[in-house]
Amino acid sequence: MKLLVTGGAGFIGSNFVHYVYNNHPDVEIFVLDKLTYAGNKANIATILGDRVHLIVGDICDAELVDQLVQKVDAIVHYAAESHNDNSLQNPAPFLHSNVVGTYTLLEAARKYDVRFHHVSTDEVYGDLPLREDLPGHGEGVGEKFTTQSRYNPSSPYSSTKAASDMLVHGWTRSFGVRATISNCSNNYGPYQHIEKFIPRQITNILSGIKPKLYGTGKNVRDWIHTEDHSSAVWTILTKGKIGETYLIGADGEQDNKTVLEMILKDMGKDSSDYEQVKDRPGHDLRYAIDSTKLRKELGWSPKFTDFETGLKHTIQWYTDHEDWWQAEKQAVEAKYARNGQ
Ligand code: NAD
Ligand code: DAU
Repeated sequence: MKLLVTGGAGFIGSNFVHYVYNNHPDVEIFVLDKLTYAGNKANIATILGDRVHLIVGDICDAELVDQLVQKVDAIVHYAAESHNDNSLQNPAPFLHSNVVGTYTLLEAARKYDVRFHHVSTDEVYGDLPLREDLPGHGEGVGEKFTTQSRYNPSSPYSSTKAASDMLVHGWTRSFGVRATISNCSNNYGPYQHIEKFIPRQITNILSGIKPKLYGTGKNVRDWIHTEDHSSAVWTILTKGKIGETYLIGADGEQDNKTVLEMILKDMGKDSSDYEQVKDRPGHDLRYAIDSTKLRKELGWSPKFTDFETGLKHTIQWYTDHEDWWQAEKQAVEAKYARNGQ
């Protein structure tokens, strides 16, 4: 099988490329990545060669996309602008990469009848009330996102991802593109950019900077290890039903304050040794995924079921790979500081 992986030099895309490289030796992978600030050739450098190729380019470049798509059997589409805080400062690149980029890829998939898997996010559904505000603390039906949940995005990032999902629906129904969509919850693990919550706090502590919590830290995210996201995407790509959407999650709900306290404790610090900073405007309260469909229909299950253990591995990875993040740390923190965060 020849696979085109867009955004394969970013966090989740590069983890997927490693996953396929390690588990499916019959697959040749073409990574198309623009190497924006979030992309890093080092993420896949050790496996570039006969089976993994990097093409540096933009998914909005229709000519380049056309040339690549005609050579492959399937596209797994990760490339996107992915950070909510950046989308609040400047939405324009989000429209370009997330909407026009997805459109450009879909047109090529249509032309060459190539299988298309679209990687999306649970954020397209907006947010859920905190469990503490629900009757019976939200135990029972209706407290998680399902494929029936209404699209209700909150930020420029999530609204462009929602738009990209809609394009996939339209191209599947009207043009018969053989597509599937997955909406996954918050990923953690190696190679995540240090602008994001978990790596930002770990690298703050390693740099002698106090961790930064938005608001009260009551907001809940449903954490999944990126390797489990990769196995789920592979399962959907190879066994999923065309036209279907699958939600990916590993039952990892944690509020931000608890996650930060776990990091501090694991790194030998006092669990109150952090600063509360300005909250994110429009900050989604809670995400939670019901992944029953993926588990029952396609037989997928996650490997990392204990968040604290997965988090410890992640802390160790950032501790061991200071050379990977050090050069960028100052600029990332300066940008946050300008925004009061
Ligand atoms: P990331 O920001 O770490 O990586 C994105 C990659 O896409 C980078 O390598 C970047 O260079 C590349 N890219 C961006 N614009 C491009 C363009 N126009 N042309 C070519 N390459 C381009 O993002 P991530 O966290 O790895 O997320 C990957 C995908 O997974 C995104 O589509 C995101 O919406 C989705 N997703 C992320 C999460 C999460 O927790 N991070 C959860 C669910 C879904
Ligand atoms: O749910 C999936 C989404 O998860 C993906 O679609 C996005 O691409 C990905 O970035 C992530 O979005 P979040 O906005 O949830 O992730 P982020 O790491 O930016 O923030 C996680 C939570 O931590 C959020 O509630 C905001 C908070 N936060 C974040 C930062 C950077 C802090 O409290 N302090 C911080 O310094």
